[in-house]
Amino acid sequence: MAFKKDFLWGGATAANQYEGGFAEDGKGLNAIDVLTNGSATEPRKVTWVRSDGTTGATPLEWGSDFELPAGARPALVDGYYYPSHTATDFYHHYEEDLKLMAEMGFKCYRLSLNWSRIFPNGDEETPNEAGLAFYDKIFDLCQQYGIEPLVTLSHYETPLGLINDYGGWKNRKLIKFFENYVRTVFTRYKGKVKYWLTFNEINAVDLAPYMGAGLLDSSLQSRAQAAHDQFVASALAVKLAHEIDKKMQVGMMLAYQPVYPYTCDPADQIKVMEYNQKMLFYADVQAGGCYPNYKLKEYEREGITLDISPEDHALLKDYPVDFISFSCYGSNVLTTHEKEAGDSGNLGINGIKNPYLETNAWGWATDPDCLRLALNVLWDRYHKPLWIVENGLGWSDELTSDGKVHDDYRIKYLKENIQSMKDAVNLDGVELLGYTMWGCIDLVSNGTGEMKKRYGFVYVERDDFGKGSLKRIPKDSFYWYQKVIASNGEDL
Ligand code: BG6
Repeated sequence: MAFKKDFLWGGATAANQYEGGFAEDGKGLNAIDVLTNGSATEPRKVTWVRSDGTTGATPLEWGSDFELPAGARPALVDGYYYPSHTATDFYHHYEEDLKLMAEMGFKCYRLSLNWSRIFPNGDEETPNEAGLAFYDKIFDLCQQYGIEPLVTLSHYETPLGLINDYGGWKNRKLIKFFENYVRTVFTRYKGKVKYWLTFNEINAVDLAPYMGAGLLDSSLQSRAQAAHDQFVASALAVKLAHEIDKKMQVGMMLAYQPVYPYTCDPADQIKVMEYNQKMLFYADVQAGGCYPNYKLKEYEREGITLDISPEDHALLKDYPVDFISFSCYGSNVLTTHEKEAGDSGNLGINGIKNPYLETNAWGWATDPDCLRLALNVLWDRYHKPLWIVENGLGWSDELTSDGKVHDDYRIKYLKENIQSMKDAVNLDGVELLGYTMWGCIDLVSNGTGEMKKRYGFVYVERDDFGKGSLKRIPKDSFYWYQKVIASNGEDL
């Protein structure tokens, strides 16, 4: 048997993509609530308003620079469609959805707390009771079904008030606000939630600084300070968790993908090495407890100065994360020989197409070996328990005339990916806590804001324009995953 008896099989969602109820029961706005829909060819936009009343919308793309015009503050503007506002309405469908998860046999459910549901502006001293009560209902139901929650404290959901009034995570004041939020939820959900993640894909600070850190500019100085502040906030969360409940474990969350050089030219290997440093820097600090030399040298070269105190260094050193979690959907290819390589487009972030791999309609390469490769790199470098908290295939699923969704392409993808993680456990001996497939019930795409880019085991009837009954329909993959979990991964 490859997986331990208590291996945590399940699925993952994020409040801003799934929950909806964006203005209900006292919830404030978050960063994503002012983000419009987009598509594979049209970027999402942040809408804004200036003090003279003029409004506008600025495109936001992963891997590209982002800067709002002077004096602009992100805000809701009439005439735009904001997919997060209803999303797929977990807020009103949680009973039905958790029942479906239980039917699949989930051992674990990864969700995020909508920070602004609990602290509407982000800087209040006391929480919004209605927000806390909502998650109590979720965790109580999870307990009833024997599903272990894995809770992300911040999945791109920085309260908008902390962006507009404080400038986002480059302002150290956010550390205190986060600490207050974390203390509140750790105390409240003690005994109900054991596993926590601090910042979803913390390297998004680099790749999508508005999403990851509520930044309104992409300068290296802002990103470096924001990353540092999140490191300190995260270390404080580890400290608090261990003080409040010894059983609690806190992990970091990294967007990780194996990266291949296109040629054997040493220059390509250097390019890949530097890319890996950029990606792993976040885990080096959160798991290793200090800044790696390559980053210190980079900051020195670029004239970056951090507002950093001796207490910060001590916190990072004394409170590294308990485990490392990551997202991995496929792989990427880099080269210094762009002309020879031709096509660009893997994962949309500065990569080129891998001729050996297939891609989906959004240019994401599916790579049957990505999980084994990722798990080995992370295990060898950190020797901390690992957890795959996002993996899956975005596809424009069709509801057929028999009222079903025949997603054999998804079953094939998952079968190969789970086999690859099984190999990492069986053949390489990595320590793996669990696997939560991304978007287990259809939700809004983060990158494009579409409904069309679906990941779920359960289809949700809703389109890209906010129309549809929100009815839940299990896809073929629902029954397949049920069997995988029942056999603890033996029957793929
Ligand atoms: C990860 C995010 O980047 O990838 C999720 O943590 C996101 O929020 C997922 O949804 C898939 O990306 P997309 O753009 O297909 O939704």
